[in-house]
Amino acid sequence: MRLGDLLRAPLLSGLTREALLRMDPETAHGATISALKLGLAPEARGADPKELRLSLAGLDLANPVGMAAGFDKNAEVPRVLGRLGFGMVEVGTITPRAQTGNPRPRLFRLPGAEAVINRMGFNNEGHDAAFERLKGARVSAVLGVNIGANKDSDDFVADYVAGVRRFAEVADYLTINISSPNTPGLRNLQADEALTRLLGAVLKARSKAGVRVPVFLKIAPDLDETALDDIARVIGATDLDGLIVSNTTITRAGVEGLPHAAETGGLSGRPLFNLSTRRLAQMRERVGSLPIIGVGGIHSPESALAKLEAGANAIQLYSALVFQGFELLDQIKAGLASAVRRNGLKTVSELTGRNTRAWASGEASL
Ligand SMILES: Cc1cc2nc3c(=O)[nH]c(=O)nc-3n(C[C@H](O)[C@H](O)[C@H](O)COP(=O)(O)O)c2cc1C
Repeated sequence: MRLGDLLRAPLLSGLTREALLRMDPETAHGATISALKLGLAPEARGADPKELRLSLAGLDLANPVGMAAGFDKNAEVPRVLGRLGFGMVEVGTITPRAQTGNPRPRLFRLPGAEAVINRMGFNNEGHDAAFERLKGARVSAVLGVNIGANKDSDDFVADYVAGVRRFAEVADYLTINISSPNTPGLRNLQADEALTRLLGAVLKARSKAGVRVPVFLKIAPDLDETALDDIARVIGATDLDGLIVSNTTITRAGVEGLPHAAETGGLSGRPLFNLSTRRLAQMRERVGSLPIIGVGGIHSPESALAKLEAGANAIQLYSALVFQGFELLDQIKAGLASAVRRNGLKTVSELTGRNTRAWASGEASL
């Protein structure tokens, strides 16, 4: 056996995942990124079945399953993630200037609930470092760049505009992240007038950039139906390309009483599934056929299917990978391909929105 194979075999597999789960969460995350940088990752099992191909906002995806933002904040491993078999990889959130984020500890696992709480606070190396890595990088997956604002910025809108200018030429799509709970004031950008101004500036910068890179807006699950109405109305008057629903929640339903449940920050993973899927379906009812990427609590092939049926065109996940490893990606893709065949359909896109009403009303849950 060659040295490379020897190293490759056990890494990130069951045994090593147990070791990672015994480490401090942020140390384990750093170790995972380092391992991926060294190429110590299982390869995807061949090409994706053709049923999983789809077109999203003009982008061709080999499959609808993406890595959510926050895993590769500094765009260090998008190529490796593509090789692992994700249909899309979203790097970031990236802010104009490097910032250290909140003091540690700021990342907590709640293993009993397959949940995570984080208050990272956009720790990242800034635009220039990420841009240098991305320019010329050949990523097999669709590459998303998620952009944000510096905590101490005196003009949040200008920070997003700078992100569009910086990354338009290297990204397949951009995500405007205004839904992190860990940058004070950021979520206020979701409100009516602020959102109108932000999207006006961002989309103007996009049209000046020379390339028509699709722009997605990522929203929080902690919005009521009036707020969803307002967002739908504002975006309906723009040429925004799509939504990502949702970011983490500041609520704690499903984890009350568990160790770390009272930590400040955003909750993700399994307990976020029903809330984020309901918001997704409610948004689907408001935006017609606008592309929506569904994120939040996907932890199995069944939950991935439910997200699509609630109204998502494509999906992303992060927290469940911490507990289940990258094998989950193959399981989800296999489950979706068999759901397409079982239902006598031709492509995964035909699963989208088959159960939107039940999810929007709260009748459906997992
Ligand atoms: C540790 C951690 C860091 C995250 N950082 C970001 C981020 O920088 N930008 C962002 O848009 N979302 C971020 N997210 C949110 C995820 O992209 C995703 O929306 C959320 O975790 C719900 O999906 P999940 O339940 O599959 O994890 C982060 C999530 C976690 C767990």
